[in-house]
Amino acid sequence: MNNLNKIILTILVAFIAIAYTLYKDVLVLSGYYRGPAQKSNGGKCRYLEGLKSNLCEDIKIHHASGLAYLACGDEQSRKTLPWPPPIDAYNNSFPLRGIFYVYNIEKDKLTPLILKNFPDEEDFSLHGFGIYESPTESDNLYFFIINHKRTGSVIELFKHKLNTFELNHLKTFKHDLIYSPNSVAPVSKDEFYITNDLYYIQSHWKVQLEIWTRRRWSNVVFHSSKTNTTELVVDGLIFANGITVNWDYSHVFIGTSGTGELFIYERKPDNKLKLLDTINIEHSVDNVNVDPVTGEIYLAVIHDILEYMNGLADKFQSIKPSFGVIKISNNTKEDKFYGIKYAKEKIFEDDGTLFYALSVAAGDSSRKVMLWGSPFAEGVVSVANQKTIRVVLD
Ligand SMILES: *[C@@H]1O[C@H](CO)[C@@H](O)[C@H](O)[C@H]1NC(C)=O
Ligand SMILES: *[C@@H]1O[C@H](CO)[C@@H](O)[C@H](O)[C@H]1NC(C)=O
Ligand SMILES: *[C@@H]1O[C@H](CO)[C@@H](O)[C@H](O)[C@H]1NC(C)=O
Repeated sequence: MNNLNKIILTILVAFIAIAYTLYKDVLVLSGYYRGPAQKSNGGKCRYLEGLKSNLCEDIKIHHASGLAYLACGDEQSRKTLPWPPPIDAYNNSFPLRGIFYVYNIEKDKLTPLILKNFPDEEDFSLHGFGIYESPTESDNLYFFIINHKRTGSVIELFKHKLNTFELNHLKTFKHDLIYSPNSVAPVSKDEFYITNDLYYIQSHWKVQLEIWTRRRWSNVVFHSSKTNTTELVVDGLIFANGITVNWDYSHVFIGTSGTGELFIYERKPDNKLKLLDTINIEHSVDNVNVDPVTGEIYLAVIHDILEYMNGLADKFQSIKPSFGVIKISNNTKEDKFYGIKYAKEKIFEDDGTLFYALSVAAGDSSRKVMLWGSPFAEGVVSVANQKTIRVVLD
């Protein structure tokens, strides 16, 4: 154990003694009460062809066309540098170039997308992204993509014509309030929400301090280029991670890694968010996806946050963090009359053998396929006929 770990442990122990609520949260998120993750038999899972040595943090499915979009990075830069850059300082002399893929679920075909109107020498370091479907342009999708440039993080807007293999750059959004974006949820061609996962970005020590003392410094920011406003809409979170919207953009969903919660907000006409429900997931939540057909919410979750932090420190050489996939649906059982509005079901769990450090689970209920990605584990896993997969817990 190195000195850093010793100090972190000391801080952690001191904290546990002082604050019971924090202690409880860490215990819950580390899986103390549920025990280690079970190994899955992986029966219906397989890797997508042609994605070796790519690591894909975020995946979104365009359900009408059955096309999935994958935001990936190359293995070399992910394993040699701390990633994503805002989590830690990085000092790199060559441009980072992530790559987008489109995956046709029915044809089982994966194709890289070519960037147009975007300089070759520009950084393109990917993390979360969101897709906006304009109701008046059935052929075009608008991609809002987090780009962690060495000069600071920005949101890039690209236009993509369905069934082509290009992303056309339109615009870059940069603002002081967008400093550590993790995930982005567009609600029009000009408006989006982002989560800032941490307050500190460029100092290893400050980042560690913020994480281990569990500062409530994470927030959600709304930007509109219609009115040229960028404003804080939710504050006081601990490591807000995935953000997404439902099919009609009326509700916003935010998962937190720091407290293991899923927040459901209603969007007000002025784009402020009103908290409707808090669902205690009891696992650190990474990306959040909503199936627009069923309204079901899929969460990629970390099984044990301490194992995950150790994995990060180890650069995942020997520690392969376990994970789960949790589905949230409307509660149809009798206890809904007692105010339990949502049903929470863990539909998959693995101890890190099949895949590890899962960051995203994108489900397509009509094609019965789910895709998984991770910024640290090679490749993307396709889980066919997800409805039949059940790993029972709790
Ligand atoms: C970044 O790299 C350069 C060149 O290798 C080096 O001179 C500089 O000290 C490094 N900065 C930090 C903060 O590590
Ligand atoms: C938009 O607002 C920012 C400050 O938030 C300002 O710097 C910028 O000049 C404004 N742009 C326009 C086009 O008004
Ligand atoms: C619950 O039902 C409502 C009304 O049908 C639907 O809009 C919503 O998406 C559903 N939510 C979930 C989590 O399934």
